[in-house]
Parts: sequence; structure tokens; C-alpha cells
Amino acid sequence: MNLQEQDTIEKVRLISKEQFDTLYHISQILNAVNYTDTLIIETLDLVIEVVNAERGLFVRYDDIWRKFNIIAARNVQKENIVDLTAFSSGILQKVIDSHQPCLYHDVQSDPSVSQFQSVQLQNIKSVLGVPILKDGRVWGVILVDSRTNRKEFNEENLVFLDFFSNIVSLTLDKISKLENLEKENLLLRNRLEAEKSIPELIGQSQVMKKLALLINKVAKTDATVLLLGESGTGKELIAKAIHNFSDRKDKPYLAQFCGSIPDTLLESELFGFKKGAFTGATSDKKGLFEVASGGTFFLDEIADISMALQAKLLRVLQSKEIMRLGDTKVIQIDARVIAATNKELNQLVKENKFREDLFYRLNVFPIKIPPLRERIGDVPLLTYHFIKKFSDKNIHIDPKTMRILEEYSWPGNVRQLENVIRRGLILTDGDKLLPEHVVLEEDSNDSNFSGTLREFEKILLLKRLKMFDGNRTATAKSLGVSVRWVQLKLKEMNVK
Ligand SMILES: Nc1ncnc2c1ncn2[C@@H]1O[C@H](COP(=O)(O)OP(=O)(O)O)[C@@H](O)[C@H]1O
Ligand SMILES: [Mg+2]
Repeated sequence: MNLQEQDTIEKVRLISKEQFDTLYHISQILNAVNYTDTLIIETLDLVIEVVNAERGLFVRYDDIWRKFNIIAARNVQKENIVDLTAFSSGILQKVIDSHQPCLYHDVQSDPSVSQFQSVQLQNIKSVLGVPILKDGRVWGVILVDSRTNRKEFNEENLVFLDFFSNIVSLTLDKISKLENLEKENLLLRNRLEAEKSIPELIGQSQVMKKLALLINKVAKTDATVLLLGESGTGKELIAKAIHNFSDRKDKPYLAQFCGSIPDTLLESELFGFKKGAFTGATSDKKGLFEVASGGTFFLDEIADISMALQAKLLRVLQSKEIMRLGDTKVIQIDARVIAATNKELNQLVKENKFREDLFYRLNVFPIKIPPLRERIGDVPLLTYHFIKKFSDKNIHIDPKTMRILEEYSWPGNVRQLENVIRRGLILTDGDKLLPEHVVLEEDSNDSNFSGTLREFEKILLLKRLKMFDGNRTATAKSLGVSVRWVQLKLKEMNVK
């Protein structure tokens, strides 16, 4: 047994049963706490009680800047003390300098202590200070004091506090390790989240965050993805993002719009043809499936393809082989397929307009993209994004304008918002987007309309055409009709 151990045992004898119990109690509290803050307040209250002090102070000591940081100051009523000037910083300094517990009795008459102004002002009778050491350095100090009308501290209290401070040091070690781990964990998680955000996909709403996570997950696989969502919700953007986040990112990404394209044309685009396969096939041509091999092939508006082509597509997806039109040679293909539609595909299956087996082939990993009106919180971010995209000036948005944008129902979703902002920027002369620069269609639930259905059809069609800058394909898509229907109607209305 060395001297120090002997000394410790001697000291233990000085501790009363009550204090020993308290130490045990404290060690249990300390074992259970995870955060420095709770640790300090709870233990300080206990110390005040056990040594019969009036006030307690717990300071953190920064030995680089030689500064105290008060972590907790409590009184015997278990309240926080606000007026911290009342504590003697001189005594604190003594504990720090000596690395030793200090006990002062009757400080009023002790000239080495009573010179501290606060001791005199507060009528302090006894002070106990104990350093909390960590790796041989003063990590903090516990100070308790008592005023003239209370009992004095004694040696026993000092020994108790010394033991106490040892336990606290051990716990601090444990906690700081825990806290560091937690910080590290948070940092890593954060970095992971950051990597999961998709830079081109703007939106901080919960649904968009979830969507970004989903996109990241599915991108790493070769699963066929089915993107479901209204026109303008960002299906094409997401298809591209899936490709960019996949291992196929350095291989080709191809997209084919399948809506309102004659069957034969679409077929030859998808599968290619051999010279002489039909009149006009003057040379061999690779199909897009073949070109996309190794990469990703996006089939947009998949619901619009004919039943005959659906059968052919199914065969390709099952066998991973194609045959160019007019050819007999089988070509292996390895293209990851992403399909999209703004229609209710399962409804079309029920109506026998879409093959059920093809639906299941495509529906391996469905992703539903919510309409903009269901994530209106993303409107400000998107608005700023589009302003930046279309203008290099620093354009501000009038709060009233923003309110208008946020209250609108956006039937054309993000695409419509993009167009509204682009047009607004043309209309504004200054650096502010005002309500008059924002041209919106009236909400489509136009129940006050008193004309005929035919008149309403005309108004809606013209408005929608305007919204899509005269693009008939997009207009047809947004109205859920074929381009031919749009063309016919326009002809009927005598619009060129
Ligand atoms: N979350 C988004 N962040 C930024 N731009 C978006 C977002 N969603 C859609 N867009 C933009 O809106 C327009 C329409 O998106 P698109 O992917 O073509 O929609 P969809 O294919 O569903 O009709 C595109 O210009 C696209 O860049
Ligand atoms: Mg699209």
C-alpha cells in the first residue's frame, strides 16, 4: 500500500455514514446521466444539502484563457442564483492555483480571505472549494459557502467534497466521451443526409425530403421504377436524377416520350429497324433500347402506348432482348427502365386499357410525386430558384406576390410555376416582382361560370394553351386528352 492509498483510507474514516450514503447516491445519479448540464445541477443541489451549505457554485475553468464559466449557481431552496457577483472569485482562483480543496472557516476574521470584497459584502462565514480535475488539470470548481448565521464547515465536509469531486471527474470523462460520440454521430448523419439531397430537385417539404431519400435508395439498384404524378410535378427531372445517382451515371441516359406518337414510329424508335424493313428504311437503325444499353431508358407517358406495343414492350422487359424491325437477329440489352405517367395506371388496367402483366412489370418500384398544391411550402424556394434561373438581376418578391403564389392551386404544378415566374420576370421593369406581374389562370373550380359546356371547354383550352406557351402536346397532357383532340378543337374554334 503506498502513501497515497493509505491517505485515502484515512480519509474514508472521516466520512460519516450519512455522507457515505450520499456519495453512493451521487455515484448512482452520475452513472445514469448523459448530459453535463443535468449532472451539474443535480449534484450541486445534493452537495449543498449534505454539507449544510447555503449556496453552491459550479464553474468550468478554461485553463487556456484562464477564465471561469459559471455552469450552475444554486441556493439551498434548489433555485438558480441570478446575482453571481455575490460569489468570491478570489477563492475560486485560490482553488485553481493550488489544485487543492480549500476550506476557510470564519472568513470574516481571516485576513487572507476577507480581503475579497464579496466575502465582506455577503457576510460569508465559511467557504469550501474543491477542484474537479481531469487529466491532471483543473476542469472545474465546486464552491459552497455559508453565511454567519449557519453552521461552519469542517474537515469532514472537505473530505466528502474531495471524494465527490473524484466521482464527478470520472463521470465527466464518461459523459464527454458520450457527448463527443453523439456529436460525431450527428455530423455523420448530417453528412449522409446532405449527400442524399438532390441538388436539382428543389423542395424542403417533408414529402420532398422523403422522396429524395427514396430516389437515392432506388437509384443504387437496377429495379424498374414507375413514376406517378400529375403533369409538371417533376417526373422527368426525377428520372434523370435516378440515373445520375446510379452506377450507370457514366453510361447513356435516353428518354422517349410515348404519348400521341403513331405506333409504327414509336416502335421503330424503341427497337430500331433493318434496312428495307419498310419503305423509307434506307439503312439499318439502332433502337433506343439498344443505344441505352448499359445505361437508363426513360419511357415517358407510358399509359399512352397502344395495346399492340404494350405486348412487345412486355416481351422486351421479360427477355431483355430485342429484335430490330425486319431483322431476325436477337440483341441482348441491359437498360434500366424508368417509366412515367400522369394517368391512374391501375384504373386503366381495370378498364382493360393497359395490360395487367405489363403494369406489374413496370410497377416494381412505384414512386408517387405529390402535386404542388399538396406541398405549398415549397413554393417560395421554387420561386427563388426560378428567379435565379431566369434572371441574373437581384429580384425581390413582394410579400403580397408571394402570398398570391402560395394561395394558388397550381393545376400545372411546378412547370406552371416556372412559366409564371419566367413571364413575371419579363413583365417587371424594376427589381421587384409585384402582384401585377403574376398572371394566373383563375382557379379551375370556376363554379360561377354561367356559359355552356362548349364555351367553358374553349376558355379552358385557350387558357391552358397560353399556360404552356402554345405547346399542344403539353396542353393535351395537362387536360388529359390526346393531341389530336386539341388539334380538332382548335380547328373547330378556328384557332390556328
Ligand atoms: N422539385 C423541382 N425543383 C426544381 N424544378 C422542378 C421541380 N419539379 C419540376 N421542376 C421543373 O418543372 C418543369 C416540369 O418538370 P418535369 O420533370 O418535366 O415534369 P413532368 O415530367 O412530371 O411533367 C421542368 O422544367 C422541371 O425542371
Ligand atoms: Mg414529363
